[in-house]
Amino acid sequence: MAKTDIGPPNYKNFLPPVIQKNYGKWKHHEILKPGLLKHVAESGDELYTVRVGSGRLLSTDHIREICEIADKYCDGYLRFTSRHNVEFLLTDKNRVDALIAELKSKNYPVGGTGHSITNIVHTQGWVHCHTPATDASGPVKAVMDELYDYFVTMKLPAHVRIALACCLNMCGAVHCSDIAILGIHRTVPKPDHSRVPNVCEIPTTIASCPTGAIRPDPKTKSVVINEEKCMYCGNCYTVCPALPLADAENDGISIWVGGKVSNARSAPMFSKLVIPYLPNNPPRWPETVAAVKNIVEIYAKQGRKHERMGEWIDRVGWERFFRLTGIEFTDKHIDDFTLAPNTFRTTTQFKWG
Ligand code: HEM
Ligand code: HEM
Ligand code: SF4
Ligand code: SF4
Repeated sequence: MAKTDIGPPNYKNFLPPVIQKNYGKWKHHEILKPGLLKHVAESGDELYTVRVGSGRLLSTDHIREICEIADKYCDGYLRFTSRHNVEFLLTDKNRVDALIAELKSKNYPVGGTGHSITNIVHTQGWVHCHTPATDASGPVKAVMDELYDYFVTMKLPAHVRIALACCLNMCGAVHCSDIAILGIHRTVPKPDHSRVPNVCEIPTTIASCPTGAIRPDPKTKSVVINEEKCMYCGNCYTVCPALPLADAENDGISIWVGGKVSNARSAPMFSKLVIPYLPNNPPRWPETVAAVKNIVEIYAKQGRKHERMGEWIDRVGWERFFRLTGIEFTDKHIDDFTLAPNTFRTTTQFKWG
């Protein structure tokens, strides 16, 4: 029978032969130097991985060049990681140095492994999405330019993972990164009463609000938003495009720290708010760059070997974190959301009843 829904092709068809052959039978890996990994299989087979950072939004010319380099050294085998890094995979140890030399000569940053700051994973930003409170690629470029040295070396106490999400939907899983740059809105949506009745379904729009801030207005066949209740999450805008939320003056960036996905030594952690608001300041985002760099540098000095940012803060205490970094503690840091007792006491592993 003809197949009508075949789905994506099986990823196993695209694995490099050495990975297919040793599938599930890898013994260990080591990081030989920044940007160079060696995986050894039980059979003794070896796989070398050279990791370089990408500019995240790539031109087709640039992708072609990356593919040509992979054809030349790696029989075409390369992969893009979820942090926008590019990994060249090769089995011939003797070609590794030449590959790295060519990459460096073409200004590819080789690194992003181990105790480094690897590329920043980011969401879509002003380029693509409809709800961003900030740009994505712009602040990330500015921050990574400043932290470049931490990409090509492995001199930090542990991994530092930075993520950016341009609104609270947090596509980029910023809640579990050592440092999170998160776009925030600070003003209520502005209903366009001439469009709401035509493009939106009133009951679904009302139901979309987590705080019950929206009520119908039968007179205008539109809706009214209660400013006191609204928390600027933008959920209603996703449902009803006639409730735009973007505000050129008041949208901006917040900084969160201490999250991690890893289970090693301590439970995974969620990031916590440390800077409630920084202005959107393109094209070089000086306030955001300075804030992130300050946190990284204090952690680099204070953290113990293998201690992730959240573990360091847990050890020294949040009071000390704020004192050491010089970040001001304000009323905005206090979570007064109705469900705060639940969110306070929740980790990915454990929850108080
Ligand atoms: C068995 C489960 C998982 C596997 C095998 C896995 C594997 C990976 C790999 C290979 C990367 C790329 C690293 C790089 O590009 O340098 C990555 C990145 C990432 N993963 Fe996972 N992952 C898993 C589960 C999760 C879960 C449950 C979450 C979130 C709740 C998550 C969030 C992330 C994030 C945010 C990144 C980018 C940050 C980073 O590189 O540290 N992952 N993951
Ligand atoms: C409105 C909600 C969301 C949208 C529209 C969305 C969309 C996307 C898109 C388009 C990507 C890029 C995929 C690619 O590179 O091909 C992505 C990546 C990612 N998303 Fe989401 N996502 C959403 C919610 C979430 C949530 C809630 C989480 C985590 C709890 C999450 C975790 C991630 C991670 C870790 C990545 C990076 C992995 C990668 O680049 O391959 N997303 N998302
Ligand atoms: S984080 Fe928000 S604004 Fe940014 S791409 Fe995701 S949904 Fe869109
Ligand atoms: S922005 Fe969020 S809290 Fe405010 S009205 Fe819309 S859904 Fe409700």
